[in-house]
Amino acid sequence: MNHFLDIHKTEADALRGIIDQASAMKQARLGRPKGMPDDEQPLAGHMVALIFEKPSTRTRVSFDVGVRQMGGQTMVLSGNDMQLGHGETIADTARVLSRYVDLIMIRTFDESVLLEMADYADVPVINGLTDRTHPCQIMADILTYEEHRGPIKGKKVVWTGDGNNVCASFLHAAGQFGFDVTFTGPEQLDPEDEFVGLARKAGATVTIERDPVKAVAGADLVVADTWVSMHDSQSSKERRHNMLRPYQVNDALMAHAKPDALFMHCLPAHREEEVTSAVMDGPQSVIFDEAENRLHAQKAVMRYCLGV
Ligand code: CP
Repeated sequence: MNHFLDIHKTEADALRGIIDQASAMKQARLGRPKGMPDDEQPLAGHMVALIFEKPSTRTRVSFDVGVRQMGGQTMVLSGNDMQLGHGETIADTARVLSRYVDLIMIRTFDESVLLEMADYADVPVINGLTDRTHPCQIMADILTYEEHRGPIKGKKVVWTGDGNNVCASFLHAAGQFGFDVTFTGPEQLDPEDEFVGLARKAGATVTIERDPVKAVAGADLVVADTWVSMHDSQSSKERRHNMLRPYQVNDALMAHAKPDALFMHCLPAHREEEVTSAVMDGPQSVIFDEAENRLHAQKAVMRYCLGV
């Protein structure tokens, strides 16, 4: 069964196939109203459960629209409204849902919930974000980079700030797609050794550079993310802001990257914190293409999972 749990758990050629199919499906829809179905309806007759234990705008809407464009139906479920949020086990929830739906996408806190869901479900499970990783976001980011600049293989990606769950999925992807990652941020917020080790073992060069100016030198892509993620306590906000302020992406920092470097942010952003509006709305920013490409990339992920 093809789950989509993390980028390093899916074969590199399958990942390439997903990106290529996403690109082809996007091209095939150019100029169409959003609500018009695709010519191909590979999800006709399929029911998809979208479970959210955390807030979401992009993931929720892009999965829902994507399923409908491909002819399927969705059921959007909030963890709190399900028995899952009131003591029913993940294993029992997975077995019950498998009797009703063909595919499960779950956004949750602890990675163990996702993994247990996948272990017990008889249908494919997609990771819509956990505290540790966010693979669907990075598939959209790779699609976006390649649309603008061609193959990402061999490129230098610089992650600024907190080595969080999105950074972790970039590290997973570095090994699978053959690009290098430089992390620049305070030592306390380094990505986990496991993620760095996996990327290096897969052949990617991973560099930790505390000086953001040195880090972005020669960058093809500069990436920022919020300084306080959904799973971080609000009480840590001031401390994190103080640590992360030197890593803000602004025009002065972008000037040290390659002249044609792109800027990405998975959104939602906190303008004038991790990134200035001048960069977000500037010519190097592709943030809204990234958001759009969540739709196209996830449609291809769902086809991969369902084998349709
Ligand atoms: N980037 C992202 O996952 O956005 P949402 O939290 O809005 O889904």
